[in-house]
Amino acid sequence: MYHVVAAAALPFDVRSLLPASWRYDEPPTGALSRDALLDAVAEAHGLISLLTQRVDRALLARAPRLRVIANYAVGFDNVDLVAATERGIVVTNTPDVLTDATADFAFALLLAVARRLVEGDALVRGGSWQGWSPSGFLGAPVARQTLGIIGPGRIGQAVARRAAGFGMNVLYVGRREVGALDAMGARRVELAALLADSDYVTLHCPLTEATRNLIDGAALAAMKPSAIVVNTARGGCVDEAALATALADGTIAGAGLDVFAQEPRLHPGLVASDRVVLAPHAGSATTRARQAMAEICGKAVCDVLSGRRPATVVNPEAWT
Ligand code: DGY
Repeated sequence: MYHVVAAAALPFDVRSLLPASWRYDEPPTGALSRDALLDAVAEAHGLISLLTQRVDRALLARAPRLRVIANYAVGFDNVDLVAATERGIVVTNTPDVLTDATADFAFALLLAVARRLVEGDALVRGGSWQGWSPSGFLGAPVARQTLGIIGPGRIGQAVARRAAGFGMNVLYVGRREVGALDAMGARRVELAALLADSDYVTLHCPLTEATRNLIDGAALAAMKPSAIVVNTARGGCVDEAALATALADGTIAGAGLDVFAQEPRLHPGLVASDRVVLAPHAGSATTRARQAMAEICGKAVCDVLSGRRPATVVNPEAWT
């Protein structure tokens, strides 16, 4: 009999995916605290973890039987992959099912910042709007502008497809050329060229040591003063203090942020800025995507514990 622990209440009946003889524990609401999670994994063979929970050596030491960690996210920077792999623990994620939701959200942020939607809503709702005027609420154009995509994976490519509908010129940086993007007329360039030439810079890269603070003071200074940064990837990819300064002194024009370095804490300089649209890490937050993510996680733990290779392994070494 196996024991599977979900670290949070999930929007899908994971229990129904597991053999009836297995034990399955899921909190009725919310997510387990760090301490509760450390206790919960003591006997667990499978864990469904959240991106907000560190799955580190300390946790693994408390889980001697653990064989699979299904991370309820496409990103897995919260999991110590090296430690898990050393222990032969298979780690999985939830790609594909959240691609469209996240790409839609990135584009929503881009449009919201460019056309000042949140500011406009506050003005109209607050009763201070004086009516239409030729120079009222001018924003930035989107159609036919240049979009720079950092991280041309599934979500980056889905954003590029949306950009094509706006007639945008798409640049991307990535380790290799992406045929699907090149076929759309997008161009792979060096980061310096992308920063210098883009009207919008959107991040879709994983958080790694190579991408931590990738958008720092120097990167922001290399952008156009009219540039807008959109981040739906991980907060740690942007130096938030440098971004707050760049927004305050006009180095760039705006930012749309769905992710933050120390969630849910916010850098005060970002909260103070009226050039930023802030969102509560909601890129994948559609019912359909979140249900599908839970289903993938449930299937992954079931597969590994039943001796089948799951579809979304991120450390194949652990499987072999
Ligand atoms: C992810 O999946 O990594 C997102 O940040 C949340 O869905």
